[in-house]
Amino acid sequence: MVGFATFVKALPLVAASALAGVTYPPIPEDLTTPVQQRLAVYGPNAVSVGWNTYEQLNQSCVVYGTSADKLSQRSCSTSSTTYTTSRTWSNFAILNGLAPATTYYYKIVSTNSTVDHFLSPRTPGDKTSFTMNVVIDLGVYGKDGFTVDSKKKDTIPVIEPELNHTTIGRLAQTVDDYEIVIHPGDFGYSDDWYLKFKNILQGKEAYQAILEQFYDQLAPIAGRKLYMASPGNHEADCSEIPYLLELCPEGQKNFTDFMHRFENTMPPRRESYPTPPFWYSFDYGTAHVVMINTETDFPDAPDGTDGSAKLDSGPFGKSGQQLEFLKADLASVDRTVTPWVVVAGHRPWYSTGSGNTCDSCQAAFESIFYKYGVDLGVFGHVHNSQRFLPVVNGTADPNGMKNPKAPMYIIAGGAGNIEGLSSVGSKPDYTEFAYADDYSYASITFVDEQNLKVDFISSSSGDILDSSTLYKEHNVQFVQQ
Ligand SMILES: *[C@@H]1O[C@H](CO)[C@@H](O)[C@H](O)[C@H]1NC(C)=O
Ligand SMILES: *[C@@H]1O[C@H](CO)[C@@H](O)[C@H](O)[C@H]1NC(C)=O
Ligand SMILES: *[C@@H]1O[C@H](CO)[C@@H](O)[C@H](O)[C@H]1NC(C)=O
Ligand SMILES: *[C@@H]1O[C@H](CO)[C@@H](O)[C@H](O)[C@H]1NC(C)=O
Ligand SMILES: *[C@@H]1O[C@H](CO)[C@@H](O)[C@H](O)[C@H]1NC(C)=O
Repeated sequence: MVGFATFVKALPLVAASALAGVTYPPIPEDLTTPVQQRLAVYGPNAVSVGWNTYEQLNQSCVVYGTSADKLSQRSCSTSSTTYTTSRTWSNFAILNGLAPATTYYYKIVSTNSTVDHFLSPRTPGDKTSFTMNVVIDLGVYGKDGFTVDSKKKDTIPVIEPELNHTTIGRLAQTVDDYEIVIHPGDFGYSDDWYLKFKNILQGKEAYQAILEQFYDQLAPIAGRKLYMASPGNHEADCSEIPYLLELCPEGQKNFTDFMHRFENTMPPRRESYPTPPFWYSFDYGTAHVVMINTETDFPDAPDGTDGSAKLDSGPFGKSGQQLEFLKADLASVDRTVTPWVVVAGHRPWYSTGSGNTCDSCQAAFESIFYKYGVDLGVFGHVHNSQRFLPVVNGTADPNGMKNPKAPMYIIAGGAGNIEGLSSVGSKPDYTEFAYADDYSYASITFVDEQNLKVDFISSSSGDILDSSTLYKEHNVQFVQQ
């Protein structure tokens, strides 16, 4: 840590010379200033608050209450952690005993922080309609990332970040229209630092700078809405170029930042197999949502130590643990309480185009989805929006959208990112919608116990690009087909 402190102190000097290309956010004068705020469902009556600071905290505390001028409750932890290449420390506090579906005001304790607010989680079984947005493959916006023009890959102008035309901007403008966000993988695209020429000799710093910029940009949403994270391939290593991997510094390998940032804030499973943030589940109103890890921890996982992506990561659990967790978790869902079961992960096994699917993911997960009657599978990784009819083993369910046995699948990977949008390509015959003209995201409304509405929204205009409703009778208490 001594070396690190020296590095931080020397930074203004270094930045003026050798690091001229790297765009680090300025370090606030008051080092207790919270940055990169993020909230999450931690349990039926609990919310976690995570944030970073540019110094280690002795105690990480949040004060909160149901009125902005009476923050009479206080919750603290003594965890404040960092890793070799990071400039910041990750802190968290768990707010327990919350009344359900209630607006709480909170302030991270600091000599330089402000009051924000959130809606606490709905009790499992609360039948009130609510909306959960899905963003995947988002990416940092601005100089080091994508811009409104980066969908045209030939021109990437250098402009200052302004969030008007991005998915984050749309999530900010519509902040009262949804209650929760899930983000199954691919956050800042820090491992794509080398796509900007100015970063070419400064990979280590450029990677960290992109992470800081990205989570600063996300904070107005993630610090205001319950924001559920799970891993994608861009969280794995310092770069996706296999031959560079040996050069990755400690801290930029093996999902290090992702793990630090989210391990204490994603929910622990009540009964068994808790390995957040790599896999976990939570209940919210009529929904049971499971976040899986399509990157490591199952046979032939693409980012595993012998994986096809050569990202040499994981495992994060014992052998077989993730699949055991998924089976046990799904087998325990009481559909009279949470009729809707959604499973979200990063890599899809149904997609348009060629070469986009993860066959080992399909082999590991699809039959479990079918057996336990998962209603909706949510994936990304392919940079566009897609919707499929309910399907199993490549065959559309004969019932279509009217009480199918097979899960319905969507891809919501068109939220942004420096790599640009992927063309739609060939469409399997169960394709209902495929869109790659502009950035977009998905919005899932749990209408009632039988109807689930899935909309795709244009990030720039807010227009609904596609809308569909899945009908399910949900007349079996514990599904096993
Ligand atoms: C206080 O926080 C704000 C943003 O949250 C930051 O812009 C400002 O520089 C901070 N002030 C000090 C003295 O660190
Ligand atoms: C943490 O504690 C040490 C020693 O107890 C003290 O010197 C330091 O100022 C404290 N840091 C903060 C941020 O409160
Ligand atoms: C961004 O949005 C704000 C408020 O909606 C508006 O005042 C501003 O002009 C917009 N900027 C651009 C570049 O469109
Ligand atoms: C990655 O991190 C996990 C958890 O700390 C560890 O068990 C695993 O061995 C690491 N894998 C590699 C390839 O370093
Ligand atoms: C799907 O394929 C798997 C593997 O061949 C098989 O075990 C399973 O029974 C099939 N499921 C359905 C519903 O066709």
